[in-house]
Amino acid sequence: MTIHPDFDRLIDRRGTNCAKWDAMQKAYGVDPVDGIPMWVADMDFSAADVLQEAVQQLLEKANYGYFTGEAEMKTAVAWWMETRHGWSPDPRHMFSTAGLGNAIALCLQTYSDPGDEIIIFTPVYHEFTNKIVNAGRTVKESPLLRDADGMYRMDLETLETAMTGREKIVLFCSPHNPAGRVWSVEEQQALAAFCIKHDLILVSDEIHHDLVFPGATHVPMPIAAPEIIERLIMLTSSSKTFNTAGSRLGTVTIPGVDLRARFADALKALNLSPNLLGYVLTRAAYTQRGADWVDALVGYLDRNRVTFLEAIRQIPGLRAMPMQATYLAWVDFTDTGMDMSEVLRRVKSDARIAPSVGAEFGSGGESFLRFNIATPRARLAEAAARLQDAFSELQ
Ligand SMILES: Cc1ncc(COP(=O)(O)O)c(C=O)c1O
Repeated sequence: MTIHPDFDRLIDRRGTNCAKWDAMQKAYGVDPVDGIPMWVADMDFSAADVLQEAVQQLLEKANYGYFTGEAEMKTAVAWWMETRHGWSPDPRHMFSTAGLGNAIALCLQTYSDPGDEIIIFTPVYHEFTNKIVNAGRTVKESPLLRDADGMYRMDLETLETAMTGREKIVLFCSPHNPAGRVWSVEEQQALAAFCIKHDLILVSDEIHHDLVFPGATHVPMPIAAPEIIERLIMLTSSSKTFNTAGSRLGTVTIPGVDLRARFADALKALNLSPNLLGYVLTRAAYTQRGADWVDALVGYLDRNRVTFLEAIRQIPGLRAMPMQATYLAWVDFTDTGMDMSEVLRRVKSDARIAPSVGAEFGSGGESFLRFNIATPRARLAEAAARLQDAFSELQ
């Protein structure tokens, strides 16, 4: 069925406890009266009707007590993975966590000890580093290389030479945040072989897997490299796809018997269980109506991508990485010849835009800003025009 959600509708999210808008002034000094938040990975669109109806039904029942249905939810997760990604996980291998940040923290606690090294491919989602540091583990950065097309590649050869034997886990982001990179089957196979060779656990965070643009295909790790199954932890969630991060629910799928038993013990010890709203939203999202909404969303984001990248291309000195997935544009300011403090001043004070700061994403991110383009096109066009003005003397 073709549906037509109105992604063009400008919604005023200010004053709704929306972190992206209501925390912008404090975080960036950009006033929400006319500022444009392009930082937190959160979309400025109204929720899908199928979600609204599910919440309406919940309201009508006026019952927020203990609930059943986790098994059905896991069946819905399995259906989504099968129909959207060609991966057939066993619902009995799934665990629910309070979002994927929580899942990452739990993996670190369960499968490593203080002081162990955790490998990440930088620049990468800044919370990977925070979670590792907060857990008292050691960050081991493997900087990504840029190839002739301007795309990131993993550099496993250099990483190999830097191995100390204290590494326990690889925290992998696929598709990649912040660069919108979709990893090929060959790249994933090479990483899997590396993990097997060095006796590492591979945590594959695939939270962005539904937001992939025409021309690229995301292949889930267990399909790309089935040989890694026994040491693989899969992280997925409907929260990025449907913009339901406030409901704090993620799914951890662990096919291997040993790793699964250890994770089950860790969850039991903490008495973690899913929450009602997350359960209701995930069940509603992982349906055919949810799928139709996502198809429309990806089409809209694809046109946003073209609009924004074209505007960036017209500003001499700015270079955006090709975006294969996510709604996060990764823009390099190196060729402006400016200090990043001056770049940020122009973006925040002149353009009144709050982007994510590249340095937070680890080595290699220093000269970049990340712009969230999941907003109605009129606002995106305004942001692009303001950036063009802020760097106008480069034209
Ligand atoms: C790669 C990645 N993992 C995890 C998260 C956070 O997930 P959650 O909100 O479920 O904690 C994000 C949020 O942007 C992300 O980009």
